Amino acid sequence: MASFVSRSASSALRAASRRAPRVLANAPRAASYSLLSKPAAPTHRHGTRGVKTLDFAGTKELVYERSDWPLAKLQDYFKNDTLALIGYGSQGHGQGLNARDNGLNVIVGVRKDGESWKQALEDGWVPGETLFPIEEAIDRGTIIMNLLSDAAQSQTWPKLAPLITKGKTLYFSHGFSVVFKDDTKVVAPKDVDVILVAPKGSGRTVRTLFKEGRGINSSIAVWQDVTGKAKEKAVALAVGVGSGYMYETTFEKEVYSDLYGERGVLMGAIQGLFLAQYAVLRKNGHTPSEAFNETVEEATQSLYPLIGAKGMDYMYNACSTTARRGALDWAPVFEKANLPIFEQLYESVKNGTETRKSLEFNGRSTYREDLAKELAVIDNQEIWRAGKVVRSLRPDYKPESE
Ligand SMILES: NC(=O)c1ccc[n+]([C@@H]2O[C@H](COP(=O)([O-])OP(=O)(O)OC[C@H]3O[C@@H](n4cnc5c(N)ncnc54)[C@H](OP(=O)(O)O)[C@@H]3O)[C@@H](O)[C@H]2O)c1
Repeated sequence: MASFVSRSASSALRAASRRAPRVLANAPRAASYSLLSKPAAPTHRHGTRGVKTLDFAGTKELVYERSDWPLAKLQDYFKNDTLALIGYGSQGHGQGLNARDNGLNVIVGVRKDGESWKQALEDGWVPGETLFPIEEAIDRGTIIMNLLSDAAQSQTWPKLAPLITKGKTLYFSHGFSVVFKDDTKVVAPKDVDVILVAPKGSGRTVRTLFKEGRGINSSIAVWQDVTGKAKEKAVALAVGVGSGYMYETTFEKEVYSDLYGERGVLMGAIQGLFLAQYAVLRKNGHTPSEAFNETVEEATQSLYPLIGAKGMDYMYNACSTTARRGALDWAPVFEKANLPIFEQLYESVKNGTETRKSLEFNGRSTYREDLAKELAVIDNQEIWRAGKVVRSLRPDYKPESE
């Protein structure tokens, strides 16, 4: 490793591209970035439109579309690059397989014989060809996609940073490490482009949507542009890993909104609201099944999908006049009660408190066991135990899914 680092950047780049075959044996040039079984040239459901300015409720925003990047252009753009995916968790799996199916040169770098190594083997990455220990993958790559867990990005940075030499591109899927650099110590080298592609969904969804011929929405951003091509590269990489639409943002905005959202309505607030509503029903003598049905089952099975499909007003309209009247009256009460909590949460994200907590917890050697204990507590809450029985009565219930 030391000898590689001391080589000049250009010779390192040449060496990297020599070592990486243009098109890897297990990555045939796919016919499409959509459904793999379709041999046809890529088409888009809505036709070719490309980058555009859209009016989002009165605010104009630029949206990039993958139709600007037909596969041939994408493959040509990256023909001299090797995408080195560092980490093969949820995002590594989804982004890596999509980029490979798109005919890009992809290699994976993970800890030898760890869980991710085994997973990568199962997915067809070949040791010594497309699967390497982390340092070797960085050595061979020109685009270093840091998809380790956020805590691991911080822990491994002192060892990995010197390997990210001039001419390479550093890629993240979260603004976490570089924005909170005072806490993570991830200070990007000055002479490389630093870009972000953050899919708005789990890595499994990144993969599923791609296989269905659709593409996930992703945020893209530039932290550092030394080549003048950083944004273009971010958009192209977003398409390469399976995005359909790319929304431009900054590293800061991406990480603030992401940490805030998952602590809020997406995950933290929803569990809190479910528990509070359920508790009052139970206190007033309602059975577990009734309390669960009125809190979770109807929400997830009937009402929230309507919001997803056509918006909140549509869902209200689809409900009884009685339900609608009550919801209209009580929504502002909940809004007022929750606004100060959301203000407090945003501040806690922005001032780094949430980052420090996350680094402390996820950096523990006992992290997996500690997490399992906390999740077991949730699994054992009456509401979720009742939920298992309610779910078992669904017509499409499959026992192995529990
Ligand atoms: N998951 C999502 O929904 C999502 C969505 C958008 C963006 N992101 C971002 O994408 C990035 C990757 O997230 P992820 O969810 O895919 O991560 P993850 O599933 O938590 O992946 C963890 C990876 O990090 C490796 N790792 C953990 N500790 C390590 C250490 N000390 N040394 C070396 N490797 C270590 C693991 O390897 P082993 O198996 O060897 O432990 C595994 O390959 C993060 O920046 C995340 O914020 C995630």
